[in-house]
Order: sequence, then C-alpha cells, then structure tokens
Amino acid sequence: MAGRLIVVSNRIPTDDNVSGGLMVALHDALGYSGGIWIGAHSETSENTDDIVDLGGTAYRKLAFRLTDEELQNYYLGYANSVLWPLCHRRGDLVEMNSDYQAAYRRVNARVARILSQVIQPDDIVWVHDYHFLPLGAEMRRLGVTNRVGFFLHVPFPSLGDLSVLSQPQEFAADLASYNLIGLQTRADVARCLEMYRADPRAEFMNDGSIKFLDRITSVRSFPIGIDTKGFALEAQQNEQPFGKQAPETFLIGVDRLDYSKGLPNRFKGFAAYLQRRPDGSQPCLVQIAPPTREKVRAYQDITRELEEIAGHVNGSFAELDWTPLRYIHRSVPRARLARLYRKARACLVTSLADGMNLVAKEYVAAQDPEDPGVLILSRFAGAAEDMTQAVLINPYDIEDIARAIDVALAMPLAERKARNAALLQVVEATDVSVWSQNFLRVLKACPADFDFAP
Ligand code: UDP
Ligand code: G6P
Repeated sequence: MAGRLIVVSNRIPTDDNVSGGLMVALHDALGYSGGIWIGAHSETSENTDDIVDLGGTAYRKLAFRLTDEELQNYYLGYANSVLWPLCHRRGDLVEMNSDYQAAYRRVNARVARILSQVIQPDDIVWVHDYHFLPLGAEMRRLGVTNRVGFFLHVPFPSLGDLSVLSQPQEFAADLASYNLIGLQTRADVARCLEMYRADPRAEFMNDGSIKFLDRITSVRSFPIGIDTKGFALEAQQNEQPFGKQAPETFLIGVDRLDYSKGLPNRFKGFAAYLQRRPDGSQPCLVQIAPPTREKVRAYQDITRELEEIAGHVNGSFAELDWTPLRYIHRSVPRARLARLYRKARACLVTSLADGMNLVAKEYVAAQDPEDPGVLILSRFAGAAEDMTQAVLINPYDIEDIARAIDVALAMPLAERKARNAALLQVVEATDVSVWSQNFLRVLKACPADFDFAP
C-alpha cells in the first residue's frame, strides 16, 4: 500500500476556517492519499501531553497543545519576533531572547516525538513554514528515516539577514535534515544555495543537490498559487459586495496588518495620486487590513502608524459626499473579497518583502476578461518573479506608487485585456493543485536516506 501523507503546519483548519488556498490544497492532497494533519490547538493548555484528535474521515486532524508560556515564547516570540522579521528583511525588529529560542526548540522536539509515534514506514511527511525549521532535525534525532519535505512560505533570508541570529550555522544544518527544501521563487533558491556555498560542511553534487554531513538535500522552487477556477466562480456571483454606498471608481488592497506589506507607503502613494488626479474624479481606496499577531509590539506600532496616516489622508482630501480612504481593520470572508476584487479598477500590492502574495493572484483570477482591472504589484513580492505583466512598482518610492495608480486608472481597455490574459496564464500555471502535486512528486523521487545517525 502506498504511504500516507503527514502534513505539519502551525495553523490547522477548524470548522469555521476551512477556506484559503493552502488549506484547500492540503485538504485535497490529504483526502487523496489519506493521512494526518498536525498543528497547534487554538486554545492553550498546561497539559502538553494531551494530543487532541479533531477527527476527520478521509484523514485525521491532530492538535498538539501549547502552554501560555509557549504561545508567548515559541509563536509570538521566536517565530514572529525573530524569524518573521528576519525573513522579511527587518533585522531592526528582531527581538533576541534566549527564552524564545528554548521554547521554539522544545515545541519542535515535542512535535517530532508525536510524529515519531504516529508515522509508519512508507509515510511521507510535509512540514510547512518557519515555525518548524528544526522539526526535521529533531525527527532524525529520534531515528525517523521517512522522506521528509519542507516548504518555506516566506522569503528565504540572505546571508546578511541570517547573521542577525546568534547561531546562523544552525539554520543551514536544520534545513539539511529534510530530503527536499521547497521555496517560493528562483530568487529564494539562489539565496538558499548561497548560504550552503558559504558553509564548509556542504558539498554540491552534480545534479545541484547538496550533500551536508552525509545527507543529500534538494532545493527547488515551487511557486504557490490559488484554486483559480473556484475563485473565479466565486467572483462571478451576483451578490453586491457593498451595501448602498458603492463607490464609483475604487482601488482595492487586502493584507493582514503586517509591517511587511508596505501599507504606510501605499496610503501615502494614494494621497500623492489624489493631489494630481483629474478634476472632478473621486476615486476611493478600499483597504481591508485585518489585525494579526496583535500582542507583538511591532504590530501594535504599525497599527497606530497606519491609523494616523489614514486619518490624515481623509482629513486632507475628504468632501461631504466623498471619503477617499475606506480603511477596514477587520477580516472579510473570501467569497465577498472575490466579488470586491472584480469590481475594483485596480489592486495595490506594495509589500516590502513577501513570500508570494496570494492576493495578487486572486485579483487576477477574479477579473471579468472583457473589462478587467489592473494589478499594481511590488517588485519585492515573490509573485512579481512571474507576474511581469502587472504594473510593477518600487514600494519604497511614493511617487512611483502614485504614477502607477495614474497609469492603471487611465489604461486603455485593449491593454488591460492583454495584460490580464497574460497574468491569468501565470496564475493558472501555478494553480495550488499543481503546486502540491509537484512538490509531492519531487519529494517522492528524492533519494531515500536510511542512515541518519546523529
Ligand atoms: N484574506 C481573507 N480575508 C481578509 C484578508 C485576507 O480571506 O480579510 C485572505 C486573502 O484572500 C489571501 C490570504 O488571506 O488568500 C492572504 O494571503 P497572502 O499570501 O496575500 O498574504 P499572507 O497573509 O500569507 O502574508
Ligand atoms: C503567513 C505565514 C503563515 C501564517 C499566516 C497567518 O501566510 O506564512 O504560516 O499562518 O501568515 O499568520 P498567523 O500568525 O495568524 O498564523
């Protein structure tokens, strides 16, 4: 019998949280092969031996427990106050703290113990994201010889970024415990290989894989995508996304309120455009920015900064019958987002660093091919590597953002159609089902390694 698939991600779907491209893709992949999805329970508990079986038919969902201290030090701490800023080129926001690192390793070691108890010889394991960099190494330490793959959803850090860590050499060693390291873009792969090239413990094989202390690891890019057809269908539903107050011409932005998304510059770029807009036009920017990781100081700071700028923009430009910036600090269900995207004349993605940016792909998929809107996309989002027919911008340059809005809102129909058709081809070619199938095919073809003595 073919082995099962075991997926590990910090977040796992709950009953009220089963949508989202990644969730859908993994749900499908698991449904196909059967297996187990393991992630953190949404409620903390002091009893960390308590593994909660969340049930399931085609596959099982298991939740491990975090204590309050671990939620603080592993999730808010090491994952989101060290690794997240490090991978998003914000070394200035990294908070060094030995308790963070200890909790991070402890949680990873615990998840490895759980895995070693549940996996069978033919199973393959797929680990997701920066919460679990050392999970493979911890599993090897327990004697697990199964194929284990890792996918990093965020940008791969440069050598310079990595030097912020107290033990940067651990990063390379931990990742080398996986049979396959999957990254979003070719640029991420180049940075990963640069890290191994600088490491005397690594040796390059003829086929490009890396031999690191007797284990062979492949590094490949697998750009993540969305459920393109499903999303397009959702966008075509007739229900109106607005109530009575639908703006005539609007741009849309959709981002967790994260400092990596370049939101202050986006608002300033929009304000610069308002200064020079054609007489009588009253465009709106609808910005959906749900809160995220609110207990982390850097997120509290960016929230305050953004609210100040939003107030300033509306204070300067609003008229009695027009609010230029509609800033919504809550999450919006994806079905409604899809309909909003379709009505928006342009979508603004201004990330200063971003693994992929699925919003860019969703916007393209949601357009009416006969009258599509324009994607304005930061050069620093992973999506820009292939989505070259977007209006590409430098999000550090406020004038460039303003110029791009001008270009987008004035773009002739023929050019909008041509660009959207080309972008849709890219989105379809990287559909999320293609992404998961490709990753699993390459992982299954990786050379097995039956000698993982520490
Ligand atoms: N999203 C959503 N509701 C919101 C805001 C965002 O469903 O109010 C979804 C959005 O449609 C997209 C995802 O969250 O699928 C964000 O993914 P992206 O890759 O753009 O950014 P990330 O949050 O992973 O950094
Ligand atoms: C990014 C990360 C994911 C994470 C998500 C939401 O997409 O790559 O791993 O789950 O943000 O963040 P949260 O901290 O709420 O899980």
